[in-house]
Formats: sequence, C-alpha cells, structure tokens
Amino acid sequence: MRWCLTAVLFLGLVCSVRPDEELPEPTLRIMARSTVYNVGETKAIFCKGQNLIEPIQWLSPSGKVVEERSTKNSRVFVERKTEDDGVLVPLIIHRIKISDGGNWTCKAGNLSETKEFIVGEKVNIADKNVTLEGEEGKSVKLTCEANGYPLPVVVWYKDKQQIRDKDEPKKYSIKQDNTLEIKKLNHADVGLYVCKVRQKALSHYTEKTVHLSVQHKPILYNIDTQMIYTNQKYKTEEVYAILNDTKNVTCSAIANPPPTYRWYRRNNGFDGDPISDPDTVITSEDGTNSVLILRIREESDYGEYRCSASNTKGSESIIFHINPGSRPEPPDSVSLVGANTTDLTFNVTCSTCIFATGDEVSLDPKNLTVIGYIFQLAVAKEGYPVDWDGAAEYRLDVEDPENTLFTVGSLSNSTVYHVRVRTRNAAGNSEWLETADAKTTDDAIRLTAAFTLIIAAILVHLY
Ligand SMILES: *[C@@H]1O[C@H](CO)[C@@H](O)[C@H](O)[C@H]1NC(C)=O
Ligand SMILES: *[C@@H]1O[C@H](CO)[C@@H](O)[C@H](O)[C@H]1NC(C)=O
Ligand SMILES: *[C@@H]1O[C@H](CO)[C@@H](O)[C@H](O)[C@H]1NC(C)=O
Ligand SMILES: *[C@@H]1O[C@H](CO)[C@@H](O)[C@H](O)[C@H]1NC(C)=O
Ligand SMILES: *[C@@H]1O[C@H](CO)[C@@H](O)[C@H](O)[C@H]1NC(C)=O
Ligand SMILES: *[C@@H]1O[C@H](CO)[C@@H](O)[C@H](O)[C@H]1NC(C)=O
Ligand SMILES: *[C@@H]1O[C@H](CO)[C@@H](O)[C@H](O)[C@H]1NC(C)=O
Ligand SMILES: *[C@@H]1O[C@H](CO)[C@@H](O)[C@H](O)[C@H]1NC(C)=O
Ligand SMILES: *[C@@H]1O[C@H](CO)[C@@H](O)[C@H](O)[C@H]1NC(C)=O
Repeated sequence: MRWCLTAVLFLGLVCSVRPDEELPEPTLRIMARSTVYNVGETKAIFCKGQNLIEPIQWLSPSGKVVEERSTKNSRVFVERKTEDDGVLVPLIIHRIKISDGGNWTCKAGNLSETKEFIVGEKVNIADKNVTLEGEEGKSVKLTCEANGYPLPVVVWYKDKQQIRDKDEPKKYSIKQDNTLEIKKLNHADVGLYVCKVRQKALSHYTEKTVHLSVQHKPILYNIDTQMIYTNQKYKTEEVYAILNDTKNVTCSAIANPPPTYRWYRRNNGFDGDPISDPDTVITSEDGTNSVLILRIREESDYGEYRCSASNTKGSESIIFHINPGSRPEPPDSVSLVGANTTDLTFNVTCSTCIFATGDEVSLDPKNLTVIGYIFQLAVAKEGYPVDWDGAAEYRLDVEDPENTLFTVGSLSNSTVYHVRVRTRNAAGNSEWLETADAKTTDDAIRLTAAFTLIIAAILVHLY
C-alpha cells in the first residue's frame, strides 16, 4: 500500500491499472452521531459493512449476540438490510434503560468496532423558582431535587457567589442530597440562592432559584450614610435644626415583617406621650422609614425624641438629640460657565461658607460645615410666573472646596431655565440665591454633521 501511495505521487495513473489487484478491502463501521441517550428513548444505531464475507453481528455489553425481532425479543433486536454498496444492520433499542449503558460491539469475522453507550437520566427539577421564608435565629433547608443519572455535580450560589460550606461551617452545611442548610438566620441571609446542576456526560444543565426572606426584628440605620447603628444598648444620633424652620428627622429600619414606628418626646430621660399627629409623623407605606416633621418654634422644642420600630420579632429604638444649629449662608455668586444640549455647568462661590477640610467637619452648632448645594431649575415660559414647584431639583455635595464647578443634567435641549441655588448644612438650608437664566444648546446641525461623517466612514470601510 505504501508503495502504491508513493507510486501515485510519482507516476499518477500507473498504480490503478496494476493487473494483480487484490479483492477490495472489507470495512465495518458503527454510524452513531451521539452515543449519549436519555432513559426511555427509542434508538436505532446503524452498523455498516462493505465487502464482508461473514455476516454482521451486534454484541451486547455482556457479550451476547443480539437476535432479530421476535415476540420474545421485542425491546432490543437487530434488523438486516442490504444496500447497493454493502449491508446495514441497525441495532434497535426501545425504551432504553440505564442498564443498557456499556460497550456494544458490531463485528463480522475478525473485524469489529466497539462504542460505549452512555444512558443517563437528565435532572428535571419540577419547581425551578420558589420563595421561602425563614425565621431569625433558626435554620432553614433549601432543597435541590437533583435526581438523575449519572449523579450530577451540584453547586450552590448566593447572590452569584459560590457557597463553600467547608469555609463557613457555622453558617452553611450542604447535605448528601444537595440540600443547603443555612444556620442561625439573620437579615444578611436574605437573598437569591441558586443551585446549579450539571451532568457533564449528558451535556445537561439546569438550575433552581430560591428567594429567601427572613423574619427578623427591626435593624435601624442612618438613611443618609446607609450605616447600620452598631449594636449598642442606646442608639443615639445628633441632629441640628434651625430655629423657625422645619426639620425632618428620619427613622429607618430594615425589618420583616414591616415594623410599626412610634415617636416620643422625651423629658428628663423619660418618654412623654407618643407623637402620632398625621401632620407630624409620616410613615412610608412599605415600612422602610418614618419621618418626624419637627417645627422648631421655640428653644423648648429642642431636646430628645425617641423613635421605636417594632414587629413580631422584636423592637429597636433610637434617641435623636435635636440641637440648635445655624442656617448656612447662601452662595455669593453663581454663574453659567458651560452648556450643551443636556447639561449646564455653574461656577458657585460662597466666601462665607465653611467647608470641611479633609475629614475635619465642624460640629460647632453656630458654624456647621457646608455639605453642598441645592439647585432648582424651572423651565422659563414667557408671560408666566416662575413655577418653582414644578422645578427639577439637584442636590450636589461639595467634595473638594477648591472645585467650584457643578454640572446639572439631564435637561431638555435648547430650553431656557430659571435657576436658583442654596447651600446646605446639617441643620438645614440657606435662603435661595436666584441667578441669571441659563439655556441649553441645540447643536442639532453639528450632530447631523458628525453623523454624516460616521456614515461616510462606514461607507469607506465597506467599499
Ligand atoms: C468500555 O470500553 C472502554 C475502553 O476499553 C473502557 O474504558 C470502559 O470502561 C468500558 N465501559 C464499560 C461500561 O465497561
Ligand atoms: C482477518 O481475516 C482475514 C480473512 O478472513 C485474514 O486474511 C486476515 O489476516 C485476518 N486478520 C487478522 C488481523 O487476523
Ligand atoms: C420567580 O419568582 C419571583 C417571586 O415569586 C418572581 O418575582 C420572578 O419573576 C420569578 N422568576 C421567574 C423566572 O419566573
Ligand atoms: C422666629 O419667628 C419669630 C416670630 O415669627 C420671630 O419673632 C423671631 O425673631 C424668629 N427667630 C429667628 C431666629 O428667626
Ligand atoms: C419633610 O418631609 C415632608 C413629608 O415627606 C416633605 O413634604 C417636606 O418637604 C420635607 N421638608 C424638608 C425640609 O425636607
Ligand atoms: C454635556 O456636558 C456634560 C458635562 O460637561 C457631559 O458630561 C455630557 O456628556 C455632555 N453631553 C453632550 C451631549 O455633549
Ligand atoms: C469661579 O468664580 C470665581 C469668582 O468669580 C473666580 O474667581 C473663579 O476663577 C471662577 N472659576 C472658574 C473655574 O471659572
Ligand atoms: C466658623 O468657623 C471658621 C473656621 O472654622 C472661623 O473662621 C469662623 O470665625 C467661625 N465663625 C463663627 C461665627 O464662629
Ligand atoms: C432636541 O429636542 C427635541 C424635542 O425633544 C428633539 O426632537 C431633538 O431631536 C433634540 N435635538 C437634539 C440635538 O438632541
């Protein structure tokens, strides 16, 4: 043969006209695209032979010859077909079973081919999306019904992070049956748990999602900093308020079920009557916070106010110390320094304001650090008074006192706005400073030009 190949390369036709050509080579081949089957399927696997003298036989994994179809033999059998260029012997398996997996051989004389059939059962999780509620301090079991064959690889994730029970044995335990146990539940365990199930041999993947909520007692946090008050016995917060002004004091809690809030004025360290006037206490419908609207009319309105948040799991409270604070000074000047179709940039100066230097914040109640500015932009309509109630409001913090430029957006293009600005400190806001009207641009023409250029560039690339 090798000689023949060399001959083909060098002499072309000579080889094919050799007079003493042997009989054509006998061949045998199993023609199976895939050998991975799911339980219950019916399959026909073909074995093709050419130029054979002996008949083709199929042998089961145990080495037994597979018979043709008969009343006794109706699940696994062979058929025989003759084709122009050889014989085709399909092995037919009805309702394939896991025990049918193994090495099947097609043979004729001393020629044979063996293929391993993998019969599996794909994991089928009936309920792929469940919600579960646990109780604080107790444990909860999240099941993952990954029954299949071959046994799948199961991995649990919490909010996209893989859970490794070996690393956190006090929190998690993953059982033999893939159940995830979460111990000593608390609010931090709330989240999305996903069990990912993979059967590599079957190229099969599925998953189950568990939305876990936990009933727990209220946890109070500062709505501005989003910091949870550390677990001390008496939680307190210093608040500054301006005389003759209104101060909103917000009490926020994470809790499940949603909490009930109660406010009390405190005198000499004791709760007075609860404050429940609906004009004074506004609690959000979802229970995330309750606002005490304090109108500081006289010195005696300063002092201590307690907020308590309670649900069936417990109660937490915080005492707000309301201190007198000074109103900040308004900015000296505000000028427009930049405009485009969506944004306006202003230069704001406030020579009398005290800004934080680094992390140093003035807590002198008469001289509180300026936190930032509040901008209001109202669309100008000729012949109408300025509609400040319908104005867009932007609260911008002073991050670096050296940087006096502040950008507000997204606004409408080619629109004139009335603008006013005030400073903000921990106690409240300054008077407004109204400034000259500002207009966003309409550079539609320039935009169109740019667009044309892009199209031109694309066209150049294409041709
Ligand atoms: C099938 O044959 C291969 C190769 O000889 C072997 O590795 C495999 O274990 C066999 N499979 C079974 C189920 O006997
Ligand atoms: C297979 O059988 C053929 C004839 O049936 C014989 O010529 C050949 O040598 C055999 N091959 C092997 C590897 O036994
Ligand atoms: C799963 O359930 C949650 C809550 O019941 C629902 O918000 C979500 O849309 C569901 N997702 C899917 C993919 O069905
Ligand atoms: C508060 O308002 C009262 C009456 O409206 C007024 O007499 C008093 O001067 C005001 N105090 C301050 C600090 O603005
Ligand atoms: C205080 O809260 C009330 C109700 O949410 C709101 O209408 C009012 O504008 C707030 N006042 C301040 C100064 O933030
Ligand atoms: C407008 O200016 C702002 C600030 O300079 C910039 O962030 C924004 O991308 C600009 N928008 C457009 C459409 O040019
Ligand atoms: C902002 O305004 C102040 C006072 O008018 C001026 O000194 C400063 O240079 C301005 N800054 C910029 C960036 O325009
Ligand atoms: C406020 O503080 C600044 C700097 O800390 C100081 O220069 C200024 O005199 C203080 N003003 C008052 C009224 O205390
Ligand atoms: C300006 O706004 C108008 C109306 O909203 C819109 O049709 C137009 O496309 C905008 N022009 C630009 C350049 O954004």
